[in-house]
Amino acid sequence: MKVLGIESSCDETGVAIFDTRENRLLAQALHSQIALHAEYGGVVPELASRDHIRRLPLLLRGALTEAGLSANGLDAIAYTAGPGLAGALLVGASFAQAYAHSLGKPAIPIHHLEGHLLSPLLADPAPRFPFVALLVSGGHTQLMAVENVGQYRLLGESVDDAAGEAFDKTAKMLGLPYPGGPQLAALAERGRTGRFPLPRPMLKDGSLDFSFSGLKTAVRETIQHPNWREEDASDLAADFQQAVIDVLLAKADRALRQTGWKQLIVAGGVGANIALRAQLTAALAKKGCTVFYPPPALCTDNGAMIAFAAGLRLQANCAPLADAIAIHPRWALETVVGG
Ligand code: KG4
Ligand code: ZN
Repeated sequence: MKVLGIESSCDETGVAIFDTRENRLLAQALHSQIALHAEYGGVVPELASRDHIRRLPLLLRGALTEAGLSANGLDAIAYTAGPGLAGALLVGASFAQAYAHSLGKPAIPIHHLEGHLLSPLLADPAPRFPFVALLVSGGHTQLMAVENVGQYRLLGESVDDAAGEAFDKTAKMLGLPYPGGPQLAALAERGRTGRFPLPRPMLKDGSLDFSFSGLKTAVRETIQHPNWREEDASDLAADFQQAVIDVLLAKADRALRQTGWKQLIVAGGVGANIALRAQLTAALAKKGCTVFYPPPALCTDNGAMIAFAAGLRLQANCAPLADAIAIHPRWALETVVGG
């Protein structure tokens, strides 16, 4: 089956075609709205929706050409139904459903985090079920026990800011342009850790939950101190990044011990962080655990993960069918129906 995937939940418009029989991506096209939102220092929801409308038809045409397919060669149209920005989601949902209807093909609503969570299965080598998933995106920080496609159990999550949000807000405080996460990571690479004693919130509380807002406050207090010097920004960035990594690593390790499983997958935008990857892989290897990541291009938002998740659901006979243009700007992953 050839599945079209459409992602439009935030500031990337993604379209991709996944072939379940060949188990590979036939095409992928992505448009990032970074330039559009940069002058505002963050995503402007209405501008995001309008740009998704503009880009989707062009990206779709490009993907079909790349795959060498006509529209009728598609077997299903999958789209991100949530969570995300309401207007941006509505664009993808209505576009996908209208397109599916015109072709007489099923429209399949997909949970954005399920897309992230299953995307490491596209990597080589790929993990096998069951595994622990560490989802670290702009809006979510969660640990999930993943038994199979559609079988997700929430182990712990952030009680306040998500890890990506903490990266973005801290970057803003340091005067870095949007999107802050990757910029802060690049700055941290040039810095030295160990100069600024930042907290590791909830590290020792025994739970699998996270909290990042105190860390952000500690950074703010450091910057507002009279002794603060601009040239120390890279060292502070390095200490901030290390604090986030220490917490993510400790909680992921605890989740692996609790479940007794040996595989961790890391997905979502923060999973693109090089230092996080290196430290997770090295530290957990010492405990006999393997860490899997999506292919680098699929770490941040994209259409491929949506097409892929729908493809897996179709193969497992648990693909939901859209019967109305329903989107879920807030949507708990553990409520999706399993196979
Ligand atoms: O998964 P994603 O593309 O979108 C959401 O679903 O939220 O994640 C975006 C988040 C942003 O907060 C961004 O700053 C962060 O991922 N991010 C990073 C890096 N690349 C993206 N954070 C830290 N280091 C990076 N290299
Ligand atoms: Zn995402």
